[in-house]
Amino acid sequence: MIKITDLTKVFTSKNQNLTVLNKINIKIEDGDIFGIIGMSGAGKSTLIRCINLLEKPTSGSIEIDGVDITKKSGKQLLQLRKKIGMIFQNFNLLMQKNVRKNIAFGLEIIPVKDFVIEGMSKEDYSTLSYFKKRRFKKDEIKRRVDELLTLVDLKEKEFNYPAQLSGGQRQRVAIARALATKPSVLLCDEATSALDSLTTKSILKLLKKINEETKVTIIVITHEMNVVQEICNKVVVLDKSEVVASGSTQEVFSNESSEITQRTTHRYFS
Ligand SMILES: Nc1ncnc2c1ncn2[C@@H]1O[C@H](COP(=O)(O)OP(=O)(O)OP(=O)(O)O)[C@@H](O)[C@H]1O
Ligand SMILES: [Mg+2]
Repeated sequence: MIKITDLTKVFTSKNQNLTVLNKINIKIEDGDIFGIIGMSGAGKSTLIRCINLLEKPTSGSIEIDGVDITKKSGKQLLQLRKKIGMIFQNFNLLMQKNVRKNIAFGLEIIPVKDFVIEGMSKEDYSTLSYFKKRRFKKDEIKRRVDELLTLVDLKEKEFNYPAQLSGGQRQRVAIARALATKPSVLLCDEATSALDSLTTKSILKLLKKINEETKVTIIVITHEMNVVQEICNKVVVLDKSEVVASGSTQEVFSNESSEITQRTTHRYFS
């Protein structure tokens, strides 16, 4: 279970404090596909960046399976990161490596200087890299990559490079990469926003299948209300740094929900 308690994040610049998350309380049960929605600037990405420890919360706690991750650093942090997979809007694949190598990425040790992921900061890269020492033997990595290729249905593209793949196929590679260490949580920040509606549907179907087969908890941040309605069993609405609605997807999208929620959920329909 993920339990977020009174999570607050304040960005401080020169002489200004900006409260981006204000006493957020969220409970996510194992196996949930949990949606986080809200208008641009509401604090969604900051929240997900706190969950994978790219941002340090100003106060409050984030417990994963009873461990407060905000108190961890160094080696313990690396250990924790293995439990948290992440996929991004722009896939962030290594363009000069083939599908197999990209999927194996999180199982190997690749020095920061040896990679280029366009649009990805060194910090963000740390969410994909977990080991300082070699942990897996070559044949173990091969076996795991084979399993993952089957899971995401990309066996026939295993030696292709990202440039030789469609957007949906690239996101499948990114999903496989995120699952390589068998995490208990998969974070998706606008994972389908760069895809057309048909491809979005196939990625959502895949995420649902993975959730059912592996029981991985999935947290989905999205602007696209159809994404939430299609796969999320629960959802919170963030508005101006606060949770303004939460519950089952059906409850939150129902006609009786509050004006802010209505505004948020309807805004992206049109
Ligand atoms: N590193 C930072 N320093 C200062 N302010 C930041 C930083 N990161 C985000 N912010 C501010 O925090 C607020 C929330 O940003 P965030 O990226 O979490 O929003 P979001 O809900 O993900 O929006 P979008 O839907 O556009 O992706 C914004 O006002 C943003 O400018
Ligand atoms: Mg965002």
